Amino acid sequence: MDCRGLIRWARGVATWQGVRATRFAWRRRRIDARWLPDRGPELARAPGAVTGAEPLPGGGIVRFARSELRICVVVGGAVFWGWDGAGPEPSYALAGGAPEPDPRAVLEPDKDGGWRVVSERVTVEISRIGAVSIRTPGGIALRRELPPRWWEPVGGGPARWSQRSEVAADARFFGLGGRASGPRLRNGAYRLWNTDPGGSFGPGDDPLSITMPVQLVVADAGTHLAFQDNSWDGLVTLREGEEGAGSGHDRPGTSEVRMAGGPLRCWVIVGRPARVLTHWARLTGAPAVPPSWALGPQHARWGFGGAEGVRRIVAGYRERGLALSAVHLDIDHLAGHRVFTVDRERFPALSELAEELGGAGVRLVSIVDPGVRAEPGNPVYEEGAAAGAFVRDGDGREVRGVVWPGECVYPDFTDPRVRSWWGGLYEERLARGFAGVWHDMNEPVSFAPFGDRTLPRSARHDLDGRGGDHREGHNVYGLTMARAGYEGLARLRPGERPFLFSRSGWAGMQRYGGTWSGDVSSDWPGLRASLSLVLGLGLCGVPYSGPDIGGFAGDPSPELYLRWFQMGAYLPLFRTHAALGAGRREPWEFGPSVLGHARAALGERERLRPYFVTLAHTARSTGAPYARPLWWGSPEDRGLRECEDAFLLGDALLVAPVLEPGVERRAVRLPKGRWYDTVTGRAYDGPGRVVLDAPLSRVPVLARGGAVIPVRGADGGVELEVWAPAAGRRGGGVVVPDPGDGWARAEVERYTSRLVDGRVKVRRVSAEGAVPPSRRVRLRGL
Ligand code: GLC
Repeated sequence: MDCRGLIRWARGVATWQGVRATRFAWRRRRIDARWLPDRGPELARAPGAVTGAEPLPGGGIVRFARSELRICVVVGGAVFWGWDGAGPEPSYALAGGAPEPDPRAVLEPDKDGGWRVVSERVTVEISRIGAVSIRTPGGIALRRELPPRWWEPVGGGPARWSQRSEVAADARFFGLGGRASGPRLRNGAYRLWNTDPGGSFGPGDDPLSITMPVQLVVADAGTHLAFQDNSWDGLVTLREGEEGAGSGHDRPGTSEVRMAGGPLRCWVIVGRPARVLTHWARLTGAPAVPPSWALGPQHARWGFGGAEGVRRIVAGYRERGLALSAVHLDIDHLAGHRVFTVDRERFPALSELAEELGGAGVRLVSIVDPGVRAEPGNPVYEEGAAAGAFVRDGDGREVRGVVWPGECVYPDFTDPRVRSWWGGLYEERLARGFAGVWHDMNEPVSFAPFGDRTLPRSARHDLDGRGGDHREGHNVYGLTMARAGYEGLARLRPGERPFLFSRSGWAGMQRYGGTWSGDVSSDWPGLRASLSLVLGLGLCGVPYSGPDIGGFAGDPSPELYLRWFQMGAYLPLFRTHAALGAGRREPWEFGPSVLGHARAALGERERLRPYFVTLAHTARSTGAPYARPLWWGSPEDRGLRECEDAFLLGDALLVAPVLEPGVERRAVRLPKGRWYDTVTGRAYDGPGRVVLDAPLSRVPVLARGGAVIPVRGADGGVELEVWAPAAGRRGGGVVVPDPGDGWARAEVERYTSRLVDGRVKVRRVSAEGAVPPSRRVRLRGL
């Protein structure tokens, strides 16, 4: 135990919770030692030399002396390969199974004694010793996987494996889930094990609550996504390459994935970033569309004090004319922190409160933690125990960890029966008037003074009938809990789209909802980290997320709070939140000038609400995140790949938040094309770098020339804000009018813009051709 660990341990054991947590940690150590003894001697294995091949639709099987490789190009162009008999299924990431093989893709021998599959979008080459290269149709290598290695315990048990890959010298890595130090992932090791950072994290903390073996790699030659479909504990070591490194030769970038077990199988998708994300969403599922109220401003706090505290906050927003869409109740509204209960002293009439707030247009959202207090008389515990719903150890006894309510058991969400039972429990939340849920502590967490803050690795899971242990079940715990909640809500209120966001998750979690930053530190590095998380997760297919504005546990300065608020206003989940005992987060608590500027940010968010609705539906239909890195449309612009302090909101806006104190002007890198400062209306032509005013009253936001942006007009209707295209250029945009909170199909309106004789002409694309828009148009930038 290092010094920090010792302090954590000493602090932890000084309370009753600490005593329980210490007992848990010792028990865990004992039980893991019994069920997962040392691996003993291992034998290393590599595929060996190629011995033959068998063509199958989309590719085939290539045999080597000591392994075999299955390779398949599917319809749409994604490439799958799996070693040692691994197929695409079973998988927690895939939505609805693997796509059909592309019948035009055929396995054929190549001249070097290896094999290859040529398809429309990609060529896959398999070398004689089992290296796999992915090339563009033009023959440029995007990724080369060297032959993998396995280490198999002589006495039996899961094989560890490692896979080293090379990418172009100019390539940059992104993704791997939510990482605080990105969005560009620098040289270093990134663990794949969902982890609660324990109350506060900043850019140096890794891993966090959502890890995913998903890499998005951007290089001059093209963009690709590589997904190792394996939920075991792992480590990804990244090293960027160097051009002209040694005697003028390029040194490639490398990625080495080491996994503690599980299948060695990979998906690769190539193309422009937008195409890659579209195909990723086809593979792993379309992102859930939040109801439109969840795109408005939300306020949370651990420790409202009770119903009166909530009323005071809501009245505070109303009296000051500040928009508010939802209030989130944390664990302090529960009786003794027990899930699916209410503290009747603090909240004597919760459903009346929900109704009263609903009348003022404010929804209530409830926290839901997976840990169920293990005590007789707790109906959730008794029901679950009778149904055998909780995770057990190798001896068949319930695993008892420690979370907020005290000693807890954990539903095994990898069991379909348990998902269905748990989903039904949300009836209680709905009956109390909650309109959505916020899943927390689902890495899953058990407090522990030493070791990982989670369950024993030997704990048993159903894994949808296959059976296995926590080494495989851990990373998909939050994902399967999200599935249980989403399916439960959809069943209970079939007419409404569920609103759910979850701290932990894995590849595919977007099918059920979004996420948030978790307990980000209340300081300037925390602000930066929270942007990194949102952008990184978006590139892994999870478009709806946002930070705790102001940071979680601490007292942000008025300036920090304001800058966080201004950035948050342009992110999908726009929510203030704070820990028990942390400083206030209401906009009026930081003085009149912050209040004035926060009001402006809220007003702008509300004005842009139709744009957010459009982005939510666009994410569903195309997989494109709302908030995107600046290189999204111009991945070949190397300067943009390095740019981490600004982002694109959809196609139309570029947001340049202020991430440092004392800044009133900042440099902004522009992608190619014309950009307008939305406040001054001044035009700039990219690519390039401009320095813009960033007074405390606002952060720089630029609009793309030609953009057609849906905004809320003074009468509440949707208007089109159109930014003049540069001479000779065209522009356009889409509008998805809010189809309500049900499942009605969203209509898409498409618009074009053109500059004709110095005048901007806007047209709607319709079956009858280009027609004048029926919506009111506001021209800007002329
Ligand atoms: C975790 C959550 C935080 C929440 C707290 C109490 O730390 O990340 O948002 O307020 O638990 O429920």
